[in-house]
Amino acid sequence: MKNFRHYILLFLILPFIAFAEDGSQLWLRYPVNSKPRNIVNSNSKSPTLEIAKKELNNHWSGQPIDLKIDKFPDSFKDGYKIISTPKKITVLAKTDLGLLYGSYHLLNLQQQKGSFSNLNIEEKPSYDIRILNHWDNLDGTIERGYAGHSLWKWEDLPNKISPRCEEYARANASVGINATVLNNVNASPNMLREDYLKKVKVLADIFRPYGIKVYLAVNFSSPKVLGNTKDSDPLNKDVQKWWKDKASEIYKLIPDFGGFLVKANSEGEPGPQDYGRTHADGANMMADVLKPYGGIVMWRAFVYSPSSDDRAKQAYLEFMPLDGKFRDNVIIQIKNGPVDFQPREPFHPLFGAMKKTPQMVEFQITQEYLGHSNHLVYLAPLFKENLDSDTYSDGKGSTIAKITDGTLRSAKFTAISAVANIGEDTNWTGHHFAQSNWFAFGRLAWNNDLTSEQIADEWIKMTFTNDDKFVTPVKEMMLTSRETAVDYMMPLGLHHIFAGGHHYGPEPWGDYKGTRADWSPVYYHRADAQGLGFDRSKTGSDAVSQYFPPLNEIYGNIKTTPENLILWFHHVPWDYRMKDGKTMWEELCYKYDLGVHEVRDYQKLWNKMLPYIDEQRFSEVKDKLKIQAEDAVWWKDACLLYFQTYSNRPIPDNIEKPVHK
Ligand code: GCU
Repeated sequence: MKNFRHYILLFLILPFIAFAEDGSQLWLRYPVNSKPRNIVNSNSKSPTLEIAKKELNNHWSGQPIDLKIDKFPDSFKDGYKIISTPKKITVLAKTDLGLLYGSYHLLNLQQQKGSFSNLNIEEKPSYDIRILNHWDNLDGTIERGYAGHSLWKWEDLPNKISPRCEEYARANASVGINATVLNNVNASPNMLREDYLKKVKVLADIFRPYGIKVYLAVNFSSPKVLGNTKDSDPLNKDVQKWWKDKASEIYKLIPDFGGFLVKANSEGEPGPQDYGRTHADGANMMADVLKPYGGIVMWRAFVYSPSSDDRAKQAYLEFMPLDGKFRDNVIIQIKNGPVDFQPREPFHPLFGAMKKTPQMVEFQITQEYLGHSNHLVYLAPLFKENLDSDTYSDGKGSTIAKITDGTLRSAKFTAISAVANIGEDTNWTGHHFAQSNWFAFGRLAWNNDLTSEQIADEWIKMTFTNDDKFVTPVKEMMLTSRETAVDYMMPLGLHHIFAGGHHYGPEPWGDYKGTRADWSPVYYHRADAQGLGFDRSKTGSDAVSQYFPPLNEIYGNIKTTPENLILWFHHVPWDYRMKDGKTMWEELCYKYDLGVHEVRDYQKLWNKMLPYIDEQRFSEVKDKLKIQAEDAVWWKDACLLYFQTYSNRPIPDNIEKPVHK
């Protein structure tokens, strides 16, 4: 009798277990067919195709589907066509992976309640390599990770494999991400040890059918540390041999291994300059050993040093003289802005400037400088702002998107990358809305023409609901959220006034002159009795001269500089008149205050959303918004009270008075 009662209880709670809304399903909330259908017909067989068939047979409720390999030009890459009648759907592609992408397109459309009777779709990716950079350490921690420990669980591999590795691959494939760097750019030499490579092989084998290639971040000193060579000088024959043997060892285990990502002579990491060599010497040596296997080197341009008069200038100064000196399987990976993933930066002046060297963007999905996983900040607008920036390098219309995707300059291969925000947390990304940033990066890497709004629309419908009463306000909240974060953290082009180390809260007073002046917030905001901001015009560091005309003139002149970057490029007097008639000080107060009110508006908006979604995600987001609202006040109070000690002007009456002392 007791057992019987247990069964009844189980029966009652089962639906709730099966549909626990903990965010673990991401945007892949496809309906489950009560039993697999047999609706897919295909002229090809491969593990990738098997996945496509399984997905459709399990989750597709519409017409029968033909998946067909067809002849397309090489430029079609992993693209696909979808053509449908009310009775049948045909997906055509050049590769099995293209068919898998086409299948996910259908499932995603079904999830958004699209119609399938008259489809005529053609899609091909903007970039060849659409890659996530995981900053995962071998001990399981993640540098700048805010969603728990590493998914890979190195200590369990190669024998025990977490099921989440395959779920991760599936989620990536569903948005077209096709590559991953498994480990931190501050790379441990041990990553290349034989035992670790065997673990990497296991992951590569899981990811392969989903079209995902594995890459590794490598430490430049690996030969010396692991191979006992005298040094790691790229011109030392023993060093070259060590890398050659290592490449051969890797490709025996992983025949489709993608290549290396390298952070060299940056923030204390070793590199070719330790031996008087250049970035090109270092990158080319690695490129040569990978070349026979089709591998590439992504060489990062994130360099700066305490001796520089302006950190924002250094990458350009170091890399421009090397333009044209890199092998054709090297690509320079450049952060979107010249400093470091700030809430707002101008684009990096290297984009477009190196005319003979392929370049790729590095975005940061993990919110190191945007409230970690506590703040709701939808990043597609930040990504788009960068990709749509006109560099003028090849005349008007030379956007970063067009320079990096091969439109303006023919390229052997093109790529785009972003630092992942994924960890072991049940919901993968810490904040439910941070999932949208993983999704948005994938969608933009696939199609850099998409708008932030289109992507938000898709994501909300797939992740939450199609109900317009939810979609419209929540989309509005997402679309404004990046600007809101800029408002309460660093408006008008302020940057890097974060607390040292963790970069979570404000510390505009931070002054580490004794250690690293260039890590000090005071180095960046330069507040004094006259005004605020970093003079990068001709009278200052002249960083503006690294931009192509007319941008050098536009940014060089306080009157023509866009106001959202005015404190980035100029030291602006406190009483300088802004376009709306306020003084700069009043505008600063207004912006900080606006940011606070915007977050409170998000709270009010969210409080009305419970009728449309599950209680769990509703309350988890609600709690995070509460943290965000308090943090916004903290930012406003800290920054205004501190800057007021320089401005010596009152906080305007219509601004909420600081509550923190
Ligand atoms: C930032 C970040 C570091 C990271 C570095 C990089 O400075 O704070 O944790 O290692 O960027 O991109 O290399």
